Amino acid sequence: MTLQPLACKFLGARLSLVLLLLLAALPVAAAPFNVYLLWDNDPATSIAVNYHTEGRASKMPDPELHYDVQPRGGDPAAYANHSMGTKREIPEFPVDRTLNLASVTGLQPSTTYYFVAGDPQGGYTVERSFRTLPSGDEPIRFVTGGDINVSPSTVRLLAQAGKQDTIFGAIGGDIAYVNGRIWEFATWDQWFKNYDENLRTGDGRMVPIFAAIGNHEVNDFESDNPAVKAPDYTFYFGQVQSQGMTYFSRQIGRNILLIALDTGHIAPHGGAQSAWLAETLAANQAVPYRFALYHVPLYPSHRPFEGEGSRLGRVHWEPYFNAYHLTTAFENHDHALKRSKLLKAGQPDNDGVLYIGDGCFGVNPRPVDPAVRPYLEHQASAAHIWVVDVDSKSVKYRAVGEQGETLDEYHQKRKN
Ligand SMILES: [Fe+2]
Repeated sequence: MTLQPLACKFLGARLSLVLLLLLAALPVAAAPFNVYLLWDNDPATSIAVNYHTEGRASKMPDPELHYDVQPRGGDPAAYANHSMGTKREIPEFPVDRTLNLASVTGLQPSTTYYFVAGDPQGGYTVERSFRTLPSGDEPIRFVTGGDINVSPSTVRLLAQAGKQDTIFGAIGGDIAYVNGRIWEFATWDQWFKNYDENLRTGDGRMVPIFAAIGNHEVNDFESDNPAVKAPDYTFYFGQVQSQGMTYFSRQIGRNILLIALDTGHIAPHGGAQSAWLAETLAANQAVPYRFALYHVPLYPSHRPFEGEGSRLGRVHWEPYFNAYHLTTAFENHDHALKRSKLLKAGQPDNDGVLYIGDGCFGVNPRPVDPAVRPYLEHQASAAHIWVVDVDSKSVKYRAVGEQGETLDEYHQKRKN
């Protein structure tokens, strides 16, 4: 072999190496999926658009959100406004996955916005829309439930929730039943797909999520760190909606305070959490309706009344619910349908708290006692969602089944 071909071969190898290094440094092209909405600020004037992409965050372009008050057909350049987002990863996630977040504030209340999210390399979502919540006294409808999973029943109930033209979804824990095992990410992907495809309003709007934690969000690792103990919940919801806390609250319009609590999965009932609950309720006495959303019921419809989670809630939280006149507690975990009497310390009281639940938004309904439990007004073994209509004069609660049938309803007049 002469010297010239050898030199060419050497030069060729060097060039290939340089090309490979250049390619490795370039952003990876990956299309958005798992698109969902949270709030990290006032729901009347902000939105947090989340989506996932395949690839390492360090190699991905920064996420972009293009939005407008008119539909623009999906061409990013056609939208009047845009903002840049941030990228994160879940440590030790089994595949390369970037969590993209674009938060926007300064929006107009009660306004429909149209948007695309993504980046020029990987492409953008199709045009999607959402509606900001009212800032004042206007009526608000939301749906709530927990114990969801990815079953055919889940899909039917999500579709029923969509038919209600709800403006947000309040989820009371046990969301995808992955038990904090990040290697089972495909189930979460299916969960987001189900929610996105089925829980849409009549005009196609997406429905923001407000999510409390349940026992099936945590693994059995020895850790107090939510990012280790409940990695999916923490990274998919917690870091955005609550800065990593598992108990938090949000004012919704003028009439609603919605409090998410942790029934002992990361934070114990007592101590810092119950102190925070007391402070939050005391500081919001002027808000007409104060709702709590959490997983394990204080007044269960299937499990024993003396179950540890139920008992701890009654010991550490119920005195504050009563003292500060909580309007309603949305409970879950028991996989049945229930509505309590108005209760104070377990006894019927016209000035008491309403407890409704009990988390059967896709899981198999569990049996209830043949006779109605003394603290309950209604109990049934039935898959359902609760549809809640709030206005300045009253709250209406309606349990809706898989076929859209009304399973229970209750009308509660405003007290203050
Ligand atoms: Fe549960």
